[in-house]
Amino acid sequence: MCGIVGYIGKKQAYPVLIKGLERLEYRGYDSAGVALLENGAFSVYKKKGKVAELSKFVKNKNIKNFSGGVGIAHTRWATHGIPSDRNAHPHLSNNGDIVIVHNGIIENYLSIKKVLLKKNYKFKSDTDTEVLANLIEDIKNNAKVSIDEAVRLALLQVTGAYAILVLSKDEPNTMVVAKIGSPAVVGIGKGEFFVASDATPIVEHTKKVVYLEDREIAIIKNGKLRIKTIDNKIKNLYVQKLETKIEELEKNGFPHFMLKEIFEQPESLRNTMRGRILVDKGGIKFGGLEKFGKELRSLKSLTITAMGTARFTGLVGEYAFEELAKIPTKVEYSSEFAYRDASVDINTGFIAISQSGETADTLNAVKEAKRKNMLTLGVVNVIGSSIARAVDAGIYNHAGPETAVASTKASTSQVLILIMLAVYLGRMRDLSKAKAQEILKEMQRLPNLAEKILKNANEIKKLAKKYSKNNNFFFLGRKYNAGAAMEGALKLKECSYIHAEGINATELKHGPLSLIDKNFPSLVIAPNDSMYEKSKTGIQEIKARGGRVIAVATEGNREIKTIADDVIYIPKTLEILTPILAFIPMQLFAYYIAVERGNDVDKPRNLAKSVTVE
Ligand code: AGP
Repeated sequence: MCGIVGYIGKKQAYPVLIKGLERLEYRGYDSAGVALLENGAFSVYKKKGKVAELSKFVKNKNIKNFSGGVGIAHTRWATHGIPSDRNAHPHLSNNGDIVIVHNGIIENYLSIKKVLLKKNYKFKSDTDTEVLANLIEDIKNNAKVSIDEAVRLALLQVTGAYAILVLSKDEPNTMVVAKIGSPAVVGIGKGEFFVASDATPIVEHTKKVVYLEDREIAIIKNGKLRIKTIDNKIKNLYVQKLETKIEELEKNGFPHFMLKEIFEQPESLRNTMRGRILVDKGGIKFGGLEKFGKELRSLKSLTITAMGTARFTGLVGEYAFEELAKIPTKVEYSSEFAYRDASVDINTGFIAISQSGETADTLNAVKEAKRKNMLTLGVVNVIGSSIARAVDAGIYNHAGPETAVASTKASTSQVLILIMLAVYLGRMRDLSKAKAQEILKEMQRLPNLAEKILKNANEIKKLAKKYSKNNNFFFLGRKYNAGAAMEGALKLKECSYIHAEGINATELKHGPLSLIDKNFPSLVIAPNDSMYEKSKTGIQEIKARGGRVIAVATEGNREIKTIADDVIYIPKTLEILTPILAFIPMQLFAYYIAVERGNDVDKPRNLAKSVTVE
């Protein structure tokens, strides 16, 4: 949700910034901009549309050489004001002395704007960001303080969640970064510094990074980095080492990141399990949970919170915790848990699921759970992210960086982790070693089974072509696959812009069935499991009303071919693991339909990868 990038050093800033924006474009892509400090003044280039539009715009200006070694840049996901050149960041303050990029929301910007208007400040955009630029200018001029102090004093007046990067032309050797809620990372190079919303633009330059905590300000001045809090307390630098490899951030010959990430699933599933499955003992090793054995043993119930895909994977997890660990579990929208007065007690464990680890709603839920003294666990893919740092204990997915807005490999990894965690908690309770071993052995086959499904991608592509003209779709499933059906529908709608509803198949006859006709197809997840007979009845009910059905069924099931119009086969596995396999053909189906319809698959309209605003 908006990406910020900054560079200060001896290189030309422009190429570093543009490359950084390309890496961060998944965070928002309705406009982009760059500000360079050149010869004592700011050159600002900004353009509505993708980063490529900005590059083209700058290229057309035929600038021979960018002289500046200092600059900031932004890729936007609009909150205040429509996507336009005018509203694009960076924003200059009135006298052009200060320039700022911003990710997040300044909640009280209107009241600050009112005061500034009375002081004759003029505003060129509709953004909350420009208000902050002018507030900083006003404080700097009146209090006669340095830019870092002006930023600090301004932030004392501001409410909201944000990450900002600020430059002042009077202090060309200084860059100021601050954050509350939204993420910010500082990369430390040799005589140079990089700032970004996450580490992806930094990896190719340096592996040494400092993740800012909430209410911290990083001041890069004359080649040195200092951190203090908004309340003016000096903090120690905690330098961490990045593990991400640059190849993981490239498309590696695939036409889209989404397809690459779908095809990476055999490997990401392997990595999720690596070193964690102890078949002999019928156990799981989660290093991050080791210190919490006593607390985990005494849990009487679980609350899972997440948003979007992560919440749907939580719905699969809910069944697993109840079946294997016998722990009553409920799944909530993080956004609701954060604000409603959820009734929990000290023995209710809290699990936050988030690929990015930056989703504002989920981060708020974690804070609320901590306030309620719950034991907070995180299932997070991005190492060092805000949620990973906020929870008491965590399990990293190790699925590798996920760039496409539509989550694929992270989602199958989330389901796998939740089932592994259910085994882990189950073994602390009544789950027998034999039953655990059966599940663990089968889990280890999943990467190969996923490979088998991927070999069939062309068949799914043909099917996608056949159904690509439909404007509506149902995705149906029962029990473990109810959450999977919801995920399938989300995948289709976000990539293809086709209206799709994912529902528990049994719900169909309680209302939605009235929508069925020959133009309203359904995808029914119907593996050979405890729900198969019920799923078959559901398919027949749809067929009886003239609806078309694609069934996702278990290999070898010939009967289903006589009932459904089309069948996608997945390999046979344990019922509890079927959703992991069912996710994959639905991802491919959504991907190929989106390509068929000519959509920008990796960056669907109106969306952003990591939703860092509420
Ligand atoms: C997934 O395809 C979506 N883009 C979206 O629903 C996503 O899962 C949701 O925003 C939660 O993100 P998180 O996992 O990073 O917290």
